[in-house]
Amino acid sequence: MAPLLGFLAVLFLLPHCLVRSLADVDFLYNGFQHAANLSLDGSASILRGGALQLTNDSNNLMGHALYDSPVQAVRNDGAVVVSFSTAFVFDIVTIDRNGGHGLAFVMAASKVLPGASAEQYLGLLGKSNQGNSSNHVFAVEFDTVQANGLFNETNGNHVGVDLNSLFSNVSKPAGYFTDDDGKNVSVTLESAQPIQAWVDYDGVTKVLNVTIAPVSVTTTRPRRPLISRAIDLLPIFKQDMYVGFSSSTGKLASSHYILAWSFRTGGGGGVPQVPNPPTPPLSRSAVIKIVALAYAGTLAVIVAAIGLALWLRRRAVLAETLEEWELDHPHRLPYRELYIATKGFKASELLGAGGFGQVYRGVLRRSVGVVAIKRISNNGTQGMREFVAEVASLGRLRHRNLVELRGWCKRGQDLLLVYEYMPNGSLDAHLFCRADEPARPLLTWKQRVKILRGVAAGLLYLHEEWEQVVIHRDVKASNVLLGADMSARLGDFGLARLYEHGADPATTRVVGTLGYMGPELTVTARATTATDVFAFGALLLEVACGRRPIDPATGENLTRRVRDLGAKGDLLRAVDERLGGRYDTEEAKLVLWLGLMCGQSRPEARPSMRQVCQYLDGEADVQEDAVLIFSDVDSFDFGSLASLTWSSRNTMSASSLLGGGR
Ligand SMILES: *[C@@H]1O[C@H](CO)[C@@H](O)[C@H](O)[C@H]1NC(C)=O
Ligand SMILES: *[C@@H]1O[C@H](CO)[C@@H](O)[C@H](O)[C@H]1NC(C)=O
Ligand SMILES: *[C@@H]1O[C@H](CO)[C@@H](O)[C@H](O)[C@H]1NC(C)=O
Ligand SMILES: *[C@@H]1O[C@H](CO)[C@@H](O)[C@H](O)[C@H]1NC(C)=O
Ligand SMILES: *[C@@H]1O[C@H](CO)[C@@H](O)[C@H](O)[C@H]1NC(C)=O
Ligand SMILES: *[C@@H]1O[C@H](CO)[C@@H](O)[C@H](O)[C@H]1NC(C)=O
Ligand SMILES: *[C@@H]1O[C@H](CO)[C@@H](O)[C@H](O)[C@H]1NC(C)=O
Repeated sequence: MAPLLGFLAVLFLLPHCLVRSLADVDFLYNGFQHAANLSLDGSASILRGGALQLTNDSNNLMGHALYDSPVQAVRNDGAVVVSFSTAFVFDIVTIDRNGGHGLAFVMAASKVLPGASAEQYLGLLGKSNQGNSSNHVFAVEFDTVQANGLFNETNGNHVGVDLNSLFSNVSKPAGYFTDDDGKNVSVTLESAQPIQAWVDYDGVTKVLNVTIAPVSVTTTRPRRPLISRAIDLLPIFKQDMYVGFSSSTGKLASSHYILAWSFRTGGGGGVPQVPNPPTPPLSRSAVIKIVALAYAGTLAVIVAAIGLALWLRRRAVLAETLEEWELDHPHRLPYRELYIATKGFKASELLGAGGFGQVYRGVLRRSVGVVAIKRISNNGTQGMREFVAEVASLGRLRHRNLVELRGWCKRGQDLLLVYEYMPNGSLDAHLFCRADEPARPLLTWKQRVKILRGVAAGLLYLHEEWEQVVIHRDVKASNVLLGADMSARLGDFGLARLYEHGADPATTRVVGTLGYMGPELTVTARATTATDVFAFGALLLEVACGRRPIDPATGENLTRRVRDLGAKGDLLRAVDERLGGRYDTEEAKLVLWLGLMCGQSRPEARPSMRQVCQYLDGEADVQEDAVLIFSDVDSFDFGSLASLTWSSRNTMSASSLLGGGR
């Protein structure tokens, strides 16, 4: 490609309109627009681009291009050779590394060269007449192949002067001497670059000079010729000589071109004007290169287009249309960041999925460490704005027992909540190992109590210690997350509200999780701190007993089970059997009693979270005479509650429960 580009560059660099005097010039071909006054034979032809093609790169070709009319080479007296000067630009294009065989400037006595052969004979001579003085052939060869053992050639890239013979009278590796420092610079003839050659002969001094130089380097003749040799051409020349070019290919083949040519006789010391190379020839290789370029270009355009399309798609995916209000709330994170953090919400980053949506693991660039990103799809946009306002304010909640909300992002129907990442997963997963998950070590009693205290402290903060009352609405084991040190953190606070906001007002939907929902919810549908306490009660029993509030297999209600065991005076049998008795009995009784206490049917009968914390921390004593009241029905019914008989089954005192132990 480089030579072609070089060639094109040269075209632009060369002055195109050289004004020259034609007086001394016999002829000048500044490009070969038509075969005017030229005799072509063999494979020679004029290409549409204005190049004279002597051969293409097919094998065993031979082509000649001679000026129509002979020039007078010897003066009329027959004693002195006429001085002549010629300059031409040639170009040898090879597809493979090794091309052949070369071309030659030729002066011959006849238009048809006798015995001319292809290959190493360059279309000049043949085996039969090689070296015969009756040939009358003078040539300057530009040979690109070292003929095997023939012609004493020194290398495969040389310039030689041939007198009736292909054993060159003088031959030099192709090159030129720089004008500045006389440095010998070699030139590769078949490098697909236009090369200018000058052949000058002084009939009086009988000195022949041959000079070459790549057009890309210089278009003026280097001062020092490559070959400067005293040669008497008188024996070679006849009075009239035909001038032109010859070229051939063999098993090795190149395309050989003459791009411009000037010739004149008479000398007078004048230098023939520089031929102006015409538009580049389109050799097959050049065509191949151009086609390849075009393909490459097309491919590049297609690739670029695909790239652009992908980029636009990605941009569209990541684009955000922000509603004005969204900007008012702090902790908003750009969707783009979350998209990148989760590798485009890749399945491999999925931590879990539940009723609310999916949770992904993500690495935010801005903040240090890993985060959990919860994606909630909300079909009703209705409450989104209010909810985001709430969520944004929840972002300000800070408590060591609450999962920190790092930020949020709304995208269409999706709400994305960014939480701190809890490496130990949920309490639920620790209590009830799922079959498809690796077994985890059983939580010890100590760990369980610590977790319960933590959750209680978190709930207390939400209910009473923050600037406004926050009702969690969905306290359950799967919303309790465990930190690296197995400390509990309550997550997803306030989230259930999203569903309330989004719900159709006509059909008030009760949110929460079965077994954790206070019975009054079915009637009032209003979450209060007491409903959170009820759920926490269920959690207390769940953690202590290692059973779900409603057994998924049998449908057994855990509260009722504990209550029944308590009524039989066998409360401790409710404790998780897997612990194998390794627990503090007093603590266990307290937790179970507190669980029942929080699980009472009447909301106002339940303790507050502050009281719960006090009990758990041993700061308050259990009122032994307190009576717990339960309803047998799971749904709350004021009527049935009012008519409840105070049977031992439905009521129990702490003292009876705790076996008078405290
Ligand atoms: C061809 O030769 C004739 C005379 O020999 C001359 O008049 C004419 O200009 C030449 N044409 C070209 C294109 O050199
Ligand atoms: C090369 O030239 C020869 C002779 O002119 C011709 O027969 C052949 O079709 C050419 N090949 C190509 C590839 O142009
Ligand atoms: C040279 O060529 C001429 C004419 O073709 C022929 O008569 C002569 O025998 C040849 N000489 C040699 C040495 O081949
Ligand atoms: C070719 O080279 C050899 C050895 O260098 C020399 O003896 C012989 O004369 C040369 N032949 C010609 C025709 O120059
Ligand atoms: C070159 O040509 C000259 C005559 O012009 C001759 O004397 C000399 O021997 C030739 N040299 C070779 C190497 O052919
Ligand atoms: C130019 O240099 C090359 C080696 O780089 C050498 O073979 C060649 O003979 C030199 N040419 C001249 C004319 O000194
Ligand atoms: C050949 O080159 C020499 C310098 O190397 C120069 O003196 C001489 O004039 C040149 N002859 C011709 C005919 O250009």
